[in-house]
Amino acid sequence: MDRRSFIFGTAVSDYNFIGREEETQRLIANFTEGINTILISPRRIGKTSLVKHVKKLLDSRQDVIVVYLDMFACKTEYEFYNALSAAVLKQTASHAEKWMEYAKDFLVRLTPKLTFSPEANTDFSLSLGITPKTHTPDEVLNLTEEIARKRGKRIVVCIDEFQQLGELPDSLTVQKRLRTAWQHQQLTSYCLFGSKQHLMSNIFQRRNMPFYQFGDMIFLGKIDTATWVDYIVEHFADRNREISKDLAQQLCEQVDNYSSYVQQLAWLLFSRLNNGDTATKEQLDLAVNDLLNANEALFMQQVEPLTAYQMNFLRAIAAGHHKGFGDKEIRDDFNLGSPANITRLRTALINKDLIESHGRGLLYFTDPVFLLWFQLRMM
Ligand SMILES: Nc1ncnc2c1ncn2[C@@H]1O[C@H](COP(=O)(O)OP(=O)(O)OP(=O)(O)O)[C@@H](O)[C@H]1O
Ligand SMILES: [Mg+2]
Repeated sequence: MDRRSFIFGTAVSDYNFIGREEETQRLIANFTEGINTILISPRRIGKTSLVKHVKKLLDSRQDVIVVYLDMFACKTEYEFYNALSAAVLKQTASHAEKWMEYAKDFLVRLTPKLTFSPEANTDFSLSLGITPKTHTPDEVLNLTEEIARKRGKRIVVCIDEFQQLGELPDSLTVQKRLRTAWQHQQLTSYCLFGSKQHLMSNIFQRRNMPFYQFGDMIFLGKIDTATWVDYIVEHFADRNREISKDLAQQLCEQVDNYSSYVQQLAWLLFSRLNNGDTATKEQLDLAVNDLLNANEALFMQQVEPLTAYQMNFLRAIAAGHHKGFGDKEIRDDFNLGSPANITRLRTALINKDLIESHGRGLLYFTDPVFLLWFQLRMM
C-alpha cells in the first residue's frame, strides 16, 4: 500500500484518501442503478480520486463493471472512439489474458474486413485502428451495450476530462451523436466529469445543447475542515511529528480547503520537521512561502500573456471586488476602460479559467493560492 504521508497532484487512494462518504454513496447508487452522472468541480478538488475510489469499491461486485478512461489526449472524434473501445474491451474482459480474444470477436464481427494483428501487445489502444472506413460511429458507440448484454451485467463508463469533448472539431455534431446513441442504452450508463468549469457548463448546462439534463449533476465541493484536520494530525503522528488541531485548521484556511493545496502545504510543513518535533506557526508561515514559490513559475506563466487591462481586472477582484465592475468608481480606481470593455475582460479571464462566476454573477479567482500569490506579488 502507498504510505506516503501526503500526496498532491495525482489521484489519491487508500491511506491518502479521506472523506467523500456521501458522494461515494450517491455514486454507488447511481452506478448500480444505471443513472447517468455528471460531476463538476473546480480543479484539483478530487473528481478523479473519487471516481477511482468508487470504481475500486465496485470492482468486487458481480453485477456491474466500471470502466474508466481519460479523454484528455483525444483530439478528434475517432481518437475518442479508439480510446473508448480500447478501454471498454480491456476493462470488461473477464480475465486479463482474455481481452485480445474478446476484442477480436467484437472487432471482427463489427467489420469483417478489419484485420486484427495480435502481435500488437504493446498498447492495445494504439493497435485498434478504428477509422471512419472500418466503423461507423454507431457501431463503436453501441459496443459497450453489446458487451453488457453478452455478459449480463451493467457497465458504467466513466470519462475523465470530458470537457475535451467541447474542444473537438465539429463538436456539436459529435455531442449529438453521443447523446442519441447513449440515451437508448439500457445496460450502459455514464459518469462524465472534468475540470474547467466553464467548458463543462457549456456542455451540460445550456438548454439548447445535446447533453442538457443528461443525468444527475453533482457539484463536488470541498472536503470539510474537521475531516482535513484529523487527516493532517494523524499523518503527522504516524511519522512521529506533532501538529495541533488549531494549527492544522489554520493550514486548511490558508488554502481555502482546496484538496490538492491542503496536501501540498501539509507536506511542505511536514518536511520542515524532524522526528519528534511539534509544528509551529512560524514554520507554517515559511511553508506557505514555500508553497507560493513552488507554484510561482506556473502562476507567472498564467499572467504573462495577460493584457494590462486583464491584469487590472484581476487586481480589482483580488482587492475584494466581486461585482459592480461597470461602476465608474471601480473602473477609474483600477483603470478598467469602458463599460463595454468589462464584458470582454470578464469573458477572456473566465475562458482562461483564472476566474469563475458564482451565483448571481459574482466573480472570484478560481485558485486560492494563485489569489494569495497575486495579492502578495502582483498588486
Ligand atoms: N478524497 C481525498 N482525500 C485526500 N486528498 C484528496 C482527496 N481528493 C483529492 N485530494 C487531493 O487533491 C489532489 C487532486 O485530486 P484529483 O486529481 O482527484 O482531483 P481532480 O478534481 O480530478 O483534479 P483535476 O481538476 O486536475 O482533474 C490529490 O493529489 C490530493 O492531494
Ligand atoms: Mg482529474
